[in-house]
Amino acid sequence: MPVIRFLRENRDVECYPGENLREVALREGIGLYGVKGILGNCGGCGQCITCFVEIPEGCAPALSARTGVEDLKLRRRPDTWRLACQALVNDSLVVITRPQLGLANKDSQVSAAMASPLPPGPSSWPEPVATEAESESQSEGAGEECKAEPGGAEAVTTGDEAP
Ligand code: FES
Repeated sequence: MPVIRFLRENRDVECYPGENLREVALREGIGLYGVKGILGNCGGCGQCITCFVEIPEGCAPALSARTGVEDLKLRRRPDTWRLACQALVNDSLVVITRPQLGLANKDSQVSAAMASPLPPGPSSWPEPVATEAESESQSEGAGEECKAEPGGAEAVTTGDEAP
């Protein structure tokens, strides 16, 4: 699985290839939004421009290509910024959340984060886990097979039964 190294939060988070960066961050409790985004964001539609993150040079290929929405919305922002809601994670990378706030010793922190290898992990989705209903129907089916096995006694009639 790709690993997202959230630099500001000092956390490594695993995700499946192709997962949306914003969704992974929210799921993991990463503080993706500043005050404006907390008070009101577009829910991942690419309209509010509050989910931007910085992707250090060298990590950009780990994400899906920049979308047209990003080209439009981020035209006055640094080229290293992305909208988390528009980016799909394909490989391990380093991410700086809320880049507008700045980060103390950013260059040295980025260098250290990039120097420490990110684990590669598997590159595909796992097999779906059977739901409870599916498990029950499978076990019921197994039980029926067991009932029918003892000599077929259930199906045998003698003709002596009372009406
Ligand atoms: S959540 Fe609004 S632009 Fe990403």
